[in-house]
Amino acid sequence: MTKTALITGASRGLGLALARSLAADGWRLILTARGEDALRSATDGLGALVLAGDVADPVHRDRLARAAADAGGLDLLVNNASGLGPVPLPPLAAYPVGALGDLFEVNVLAPLALIQATLRGLRDRRGAIVNISSDAAVEAYEGWGGYGATKAALERLSHVLAVEEPDVAVWWVDPGEMSTAMLADALGPAEAAAAPAPETVVPTLLRLVTERPGSGRVTHA
Ligand SMILES: NC(=O)c1ccc[n+]([C@@H]2O[C@H](COP(=O)([O-])OP(=O)(O)OC[C@H]3O[C@@H](n4cnc5c(N)ncnc54)[C@H](OP(=O)(O)O)[C@@H]3O)[C@@H](O)[C@H]2O)c1
Repeated sequence: MTKTALITGASRGLGLALARSLAADGWRLILTARGEDALRSATDGLGALVLAGDVADPVHRDRLARAAADAGGLDLLVNNASGLGPVPLPPLAAYPVGALGDLFEVNVLAPLALIQATLRGLRDRRGAIVNISSDAAVEAYEGWGGYGATKAALERLSHVLAVEEPDVAVWWVDPGEMSTAMLADALGPAEAAAAPAPETVVPTLLRLVTERPGSGRVTHA
């Protein structure tokens, strides 16, 4: 039976790399990111349902949830879309609290709301949830306190959800550094270019889906 995945942040970076790989494996995909032109051109040829919008927008999340229900429910939800927050990365002493609230909306509340909106289908299909986290969730890097706090919250939600939802596999994944737009925004293009390509993380994610280990934190080595 054809499997269905919803991937957020699929127009570039890790989300796009995973979308390409799942499409090649015959998955039916629902893909989203804010920039419609970039999303459409990057995913052209994948046969995906493309719905552009902001995951922090409840109306957009309703559209995504309806598309998932129309597909008969999800086998896989990948909460990959994420913000970085203000750059240069500010120390906590100067962190603009309003901007941190916005970051929690995108990195924590939106993933939870998408999980809630698609959970019935995920339960019925004994599906899986991948929440993309970061080592900043567990390590204390200067400047990464705001972003790291959102990822730590995402990890805590993931862990409790895994206990509460035995029929759904939940993995929260630290992908390690990847040469993407996000890392370039954080560290500059030269340092980002030296990091591994996001494609190198995809086998770790595919192994989760095919081998279905127990729920838990996963680090891409
Ligand atoms: N790169 C790294 O070194 C690194 C390290 C650890 C963890 N991570 C995590 O890995 C994941 C993927 O990051 P990446 O490096 O691949 O980032 P990226 O290349 O910047 O891609 C981010 C994707 O998310 C979309 N997006 C951002 N905000 C969104 C929103 N509010 N609503 C919908 N889509 C949104 C972007 O498209 P639009 O801008 O058009 O919306 C884009 O498709 C993130 O969760 C990140 O925190 C990355």
